[in-house]
Amino acid sequence: MSQPHAAASSFLALYLRVIGLLKPDRPVVVAVSLANLLVAAIAFVEPMLFGRVVDLLTGAVPTGDGPLGGTAGILLLWAIVGLGGIGLSILVAWQADRLAHRRRLGAFAAFFEHVLQLPPAFHDATHSARLLKIMLTGADHLFAVWLGFFREHLASLVSLVVLLPLTLVLNWRLALLLIALVLLFAVVTGIVVHKTHTMQWEVESHHSDLAQRAGDALGNVVLIQSFVRLGAEVRALQDITRRLLGAQFPVLGWWALLTVLTRAGSTVATLAMFALGAVLVRANLTTVGEVVTFMGFATLLIGKLESVLGFARALFFQKPALDEFFGVLDTVAAVRDRPGAVDLGVARGAVRFEGVRFGYRPGKPALHDLTLDVPAGTRVAIVGHSGSGKSTALALLLRLYDPDAGRILIDGRDIRDVTLESLRRNIGVVFQHSTLFQRSIADNLRIGKPDATDEELERAARLAQAHEFIAALPEGYATLLGERGARLSGGERQRLAIARAILKDPPILLMDEATSALDARTEARLQEALRAVMKGRTVFVIAHRLSTIRDVDLVLVLDQGRLVEQGTYDELVAKGGAFAALVRAQLFVEPPDPTVVAATG
Ligand SMILES: Nc1ncnc2c1ncn2[C@@H]1O[C@H](COP(=O)(O)OP(=O)(O)O)[C@@H](O)[C@H]1O
Ligand SMILES: [Mg+2]
Repeated sequence: MSQPHAAASSFLALYLRVIGLLKPDRPVVVAVSLANLLVAAIAFVEPMLFGRVVDLLTGAVPTGDGPLGGTAGILLLWAIVGLGGIGLSILVAWQADRLAHRRRLGAFAAFFEHVLQLPPAFHDATHSARLLKIMLTGADHLFAVWLGFFREHLASLVSLVVLLPLTLVLNWRLALLLIALVLLFAVVTGIVVHKTHTMQWEVESHHSDLAQRAGDALGNVVLIQSFVRLGAEVRALQDITRRLLGAQFPVLGWWALLTVLTRAGSTVATLAMFALGAVLVRANLTTVGEVVTFMGFATLLIGKLESVLGFARALFFQKPALDEFFGVLDTVAAVRDRPGAVDLGVARGAVRFEGVRFGYRPGKPALHDLTLDVPAGTRVAIVGHSGSGKSTALALLLRLYDPDAGRILIDGRDIRDVTLESLRRNIGVVFQHSTLFQRSIADNLRIGKPDATDEELERAARLAQAHEFIAALPEGYATLLGERGARLSGGERQRLAIARAILKDPPILLMDEATSALDARTEARLQEALRAVMKGRTVFVIAHRLSTIRDVDLVLVLDQGRLVEQGTYDELVAKGGAFAALVRAQLFVEPPDPTVVAATG
């Protein structure tokens, strides 16, 4: 995404894509476009009527018969056409604004939905603040392009491309001068765009860096304050700003030059038109009225050219941000529903891994040939050193990633053959770092079950040992949490996460170091609750304290991504292998906690 050239599309393709986003509003788009074209045509009729009146007044052409033969008739026609043009312009402005606002929110929603379903691998690599910037800036730029399209571009482009050649019929000598002028504009603009577009890409990536850096700092205020990093962070931000301006200034210089050239060009063009007109009138090759018409065309076209140039300039500066926006939209989720994926329904919860191999990076597998068979309702503990692949195994079961080889089955069905939605509906998760929304406690719990009653909420909270502390809060279940659950202790956050999973009531429950943020006493109390929660479900527990997994049905020992032992706790201790060594190591560094002994009796 930050690769300028990979994502860089041509201006025309980008423009067409932006306009293409208006598709859901096609009827309005067509109506407004037609009105716009009429406005453009009227703008061309007016100078012609003007020239005709002048010729009638100077006697260059004789007064004809019929309603349009004389000055009065032409003036009347002019008035009607002029008023019609004003009416149409109002219609265009009115409808175009509404349309642009509507589609802007539409683009927003589409981006939001797309990003939320992108895999963790994408989000690991892209800071949320950067995404937010890309979404906001992109939607704003889309809005600007759409409004510009309806307010000006369409009419201007049609005037230039279709109507300009028509002037050839009126007087080819004067027309050629006009056409030469337009071509010159186009060429000079093209040169400036060519010279500066790579530079503008760099500017945009600095903008995104700025958003990312600021977002990262804002998300870690406590860290910054406690490590006295304020000065350093501000300086880092200023650094990015400096680089941004350093990249932006040369681009601005080129475009300022272009503006100056445009202004000068329009003066030169007017003078040239006058001079050529004078010569042609003297040689009897045209009339004064026709010269007046062409002067009108020239003024009009210079206006249009400036508007097109303004638009090219705007699109030029917006293009990198729009490319970033579409770059994200074009990111395909590696994990998604297969065509024909079916709903898993309510699973029994039998889990099988068959020869599963997976690595986050090629050539560095995190899991090797993992095979295991877990009947429904089994409580499984996965143990092993840090980095041995425990969390990865659970991530694969949740289908956050797909295995590189092998397959994972639930109730005998490959999880890639069922819809992601139904798979994840069947799995509850409690992670080490529980994540909470900046919403009320009740809202956070209901994520597990949106239609849960207050009684159900309380029952789940009681089971998770959370009711007591929630009830002690001034606003109880209605208490608003801070960003990511700030204002709660780690243990409290964790108990909310457990309550949330209880409420979801899934056949399969994954707990990754779910209780390691708790003190030994709370953990011991929670063990009772967890035992109740685990009943009748397939549960995978990754626990830091091995004492908490004594009574699971099956212990799996991972070492460097391989399953090295499996059996019950007592079997494995008796066997005296890798697991026994882990238990011994823990006893050695962590002598039995007296509070645990006291609490569990
Ligand atoms: N998101 C990730 N991107 C790249 N490598 C990762 C990622 N998550 C984990 N790893 C690596 O995969 C291996 C297994 O990690 P993990 O499953 O988290 O171990 P555990 O949970 O047993 O501590 C480790 O080498 C770790 O560095
Ligand atoms: Mg882990």
